[in-house]
Amino acid sequence: MDQEFNGKVVWIVGASGAIGAEIAQSLNAAGAVTVISGRSHEKLQALASKLGSGHHGDDTVPLDVASATQVNAAARGVAARHGRIDALVNSTSLSLFGDFLALDDGVWNDVLEVKLMGYIRSCRAVIPYMIEQGAGNIVNISGRSARQPISIHLPGGCANAAVNLLSKGLADQYYENNLRVNVVAPGPIESDRFARIQSTHEQTTKRADARPVLSRRMGLPSDVAQAVLWLLSDRSRHLTGTVMPVDGGSTVCL
Ligand SMILES: NC(=O)c1ccc[n+]([C@@H]2O[C@H](COP(=O)([O-])OP(=O)(O)OC[C@H]3O[C@@H](n4cnc5c(N)ncnc54)[C@H](OP(=O)(O)O)[C@@H]3O)[C@@H](O)[C@H]2O)c1
Repeated sequence: MDQEFNGKVVWIVGASGAIGAEIAQSLNAAGAVTVISGRSHEKLQALASKLGSGHHGDDTVPLDVASATQVNAAARGVAARHGRIDALVNSTSLSLFGDFLALDDGVWNDVLEVKLMGYIRSCRAVIPYMIEQGAGNIVNISGRSARQPISIHLPGGCANAAVNLLSKGLADQYYENNLRVNVVAPGPIESDRFARIQSTHEQTTKRADARPVLSRRMGLPSDVAQAVLWLLSDRSRHLTGTVMPVDGGSTVCL
């Protein structure tokens, strides 16, 4: 797989998270030009220091996906520096969990703003460049909770379900433009985020042994990254509009 992405320009939004960082490092190792975004400049700098020659200082782009202005400016900057945007990976989220009756409008708005509207904004920002260049590839990370609800994670689950639908809609709409849009839907992945889901669930249900959903085994960020790389590669060229679970087979439905 080495250098499979040689020179491809890939923008990863949410790159400083557990999964986004693994995706960025894997793409970088495979020869991509990686552009990394998230809110915290410090976290992005820490990631940038681990990336190799495919990453340059200008390609560390802090932004808040709640701002369409910032997202559009970032996409313009990538296109201006590199002349193209071959691929986009969306991997942002807010770790806000709790009992349904305890989550007010503010929490719902914040989660939907980052996970759903953030994905919408970045897709809307890159698609015109992809149409212009005659090809493009988008992978959106949703989650198993889109189809298998977790009681303390309903805002994120609703956002994930909407991301699945959004992605299928975009895949259909831009098929003729040679754009592919797919989703990777992880199950539990070893990460701070999953540890927070777990502890909120235990506090809310008062059951120390309660796991939100049974898993055969925990996945690793690298399990998700490998699926993303495959979807971004030409090896999956006949796939678009799909939702790929990366969950150890633990989603209890088709
Ligand atoms: N971890 C799991 O078990 C699991 C399971 C299923 C699905 N997923 C999904 O996989 C994706 C990645 O998860 P993860 O575990 O890597 O999450 P994470 O470690 O919490 O990372 C979240 C990323 O989103 C960024 N972010 C948050 N708010 C932002 C905003 N307003 N503007 C720009 N960036 C923002 C964060 O940057 P800052 O820290 O700088 O804000 C960070 O880079 C998410 O979509 C998540 O829902 C994860």
